[in-house]
Amino acid sequence: MARRMLIAGNWKMNGLRQDLGFLDEIADLAYSRADLDISISPPATLLNQAVKMAGAVKIGAQDCHIRRSGAHTGDISADMIKDAGADLVIVGHSERRDDHGETCEQVRAKAEAAQAAGLLPVICVGELEADRREGRAESVVGQQIATSCPASGDYVIAYEPVWAIGTGLTASLDDIGGMHAFIRASLRKGETIRILYGGSVKPNNAEEILALDDVDGALIGGASLKVADFAAIITAAPIRIARSR
Ligand code: 13P
Repeated sequence: MARRMLIAGNWKMNGLRQDLGFLDEIADLAYSRADLDISISPPATLLNQAVKMAGAVKIGAQDCHIRRSGAHTGDISADMIKDAGADLVIVGHSERRDDHGETCEQVRAKAEAAQAAGLLPVICVGELEADRREGRAESVVGQQIATSCPASGDYVIAYEPVWAIGTGLTASLDDIGGMHAFIRASLRKGETIRILYGGSVKPNNAEEILALDDVDGALIGGASLKVADFAAIITAAPIRIARSR
């Protein structure tokens, strides 16, 4: 079976109720591209309303706590996200690793909490610019994979080189292809795990990135805030048929 592509939008700290009309248009597109998974991760304040409007679009959160409940002011548990009707949760985004000092061990615990709640974790990894310049991109990402991913169960990896996020810079196709192949080879059930690329994916580069063998979709920030751009990226995704899992 082919790995289903996942085109995932991450709204980060953007979006008010008035912006949810976006989902009507994307939901129409989602029905016509039933070969793909399409998701939007709005801010937590919009999860409940987004789920009601999503149709075939999957709704995700942007983070979850490692515990199911308790005295953790301001945090949201995976059970709460599931209860809101969402399907997935992004964990370990570089902005959370950076802003909140999240460690790989915490990211793994979050991914396991998500799985236990019945959510699909989308686990983010990626090297800093200096790591790539100094030739240790693979060792950094390999270490992140080894320590951030659960031992079993389904999850998605999003490879997001930190220097490519929100900068308009993307990794070269060779670098993306090479890193995705490296990640797949380092996973125990690599053939079944979807690996997304993220970092300045736009309508003008989506087609060539999504055509790469080991790229199973994209995690999209800025371009997921504009319906025309996000729709163009969905349209650029190839239809996958006879790939072995
Ligand atoms: P941009 O697409 O804005 O570079 O953001 C990527 C990202 O961080 C998605 O999680």
